Amino acid sequence: MKNLIRKSVVEIDGYVPGEQPKGEEIIKLNTNENPYLCSPEVDDILRELDVSTLAKYPDPLCVEVRKVIAEKHEVGLDNTFAGNGSDEILALCIRAFAERDGGSVGYFDPSYSLYPVLARIEEIETRPVALDDNFEWQMPDGYEASVFFLANPNAPTSLLFPKDKVEAFVKDFAGVVVIDEAYVDFSREHCMEFATKYDNVIVTRTLSKSYALAGIRFGYCVGNKELIDALYKIKDSYNLNTITQELARVALLDEGTMEAVTAAVKGSRGLFATELKELGFKVYPSETNFLWVKPPKPGAKKIFEELRSRKVFTRWFDGDRTKDYLRITIGTNDQMLALVDALEEILGK
Ligand SMILES: Cc1ncc(COP(=O)(O)O)c(C=O)c1O
Repeated sequence: MKNLIRKSVVEIDGYVPGEQPKGEEIIKLNTNENPYLCSPEVDDILRELDVSTLAKYPDPLCVEVRKVIAEKHEVGLDNTFAGNGSDEILALCIRAFAERDGGSVGYFDPSYSLYPVLARIEEIETRPVALDDNFEWQMPDGYEASVFFLANPNAPTSLLFPKDKVEAFVKDFAGVVVIDEAYVDFSREHCMEFATKYDNVIVTRTLSKSYALAGIRFGYCVGNKELIDALYKIKDSYNLNTITQELARVALLDEGTMEAVTAAVKGSRGLFATELKELGFKVYPSETNFLWVKPPKPGAKKIFEELRSRKVFTRWFDGDRTKDYLRITIGTNDQMLALVDALEEILGK
């Protein structure tokens, strides 16, 4: 049969999302979702939804929700862009800022495993930068790329890169820096002001983690008008549906729920980190809603599999830098206690 598929698509390994197992007894700590409920305002909107509004196309510019974003971050409407999850924005950034011919995409290794996949889809060279042995910042002199994806806090390592390091990098870097702040609400500092202070910075956020709304697919970014305009030029006309736009708007207005939920997650994170250390795990100081841990014997892969057979789902990433570690999402305290029980059984403690 004639080869009908683009060569680059045949050659790439697609992104592998975490499993989405279904069932009552499952403890799902593998995709960094929020275990708590989103804003009650979201519930109200869904109950009162007038389906006749769905006959019309959604607002292509998402103006009402962007007004809330502009106000929240004290920037102009022109500095904001809304996407179908922040993943859509990351893909658009590559298409907008890296040339097919001679362009390049940078990111730390390890970091969010979607970045290289998005670059390969666009047939653009990747230039990963290895983090040091403790997964801390390390940047070779004279490093260049057209776009650099900087997840801060980083995933899957859970660590926050210091703001002064980020700022020094951004100032020197000739390309666009996309600071991916998917987990920032669980951390002690953010870099949002760089989005308008520097011409080459875009900061992305998502409602998938701290707002407990991964299912509606809503992300946004802030940046200078020129960069943001480039994203508008190439996005799908109606990239966000009517319901998502409205749910995101009311959720973003209800910061109280988001703050209460993140405080609960951070509380469990501290308790659970202590428990794991007592079980012999090395636990990295997390600034996210997950822990990056190095388990004791029998090692990460075996423990991952043993947990899985007990219906406790965590994330293990194959690869030289990651295979000795597990990424564990912070769930409710009950879920975390069940995980600790399972670990005690596996480790014979
Ligand atoms: C670093 C990072 N950025 C972005 C995303 C995706 O966010 P969204 O659900 O908004 O597409 C994730 C999801 O796990 C992530 O870990």
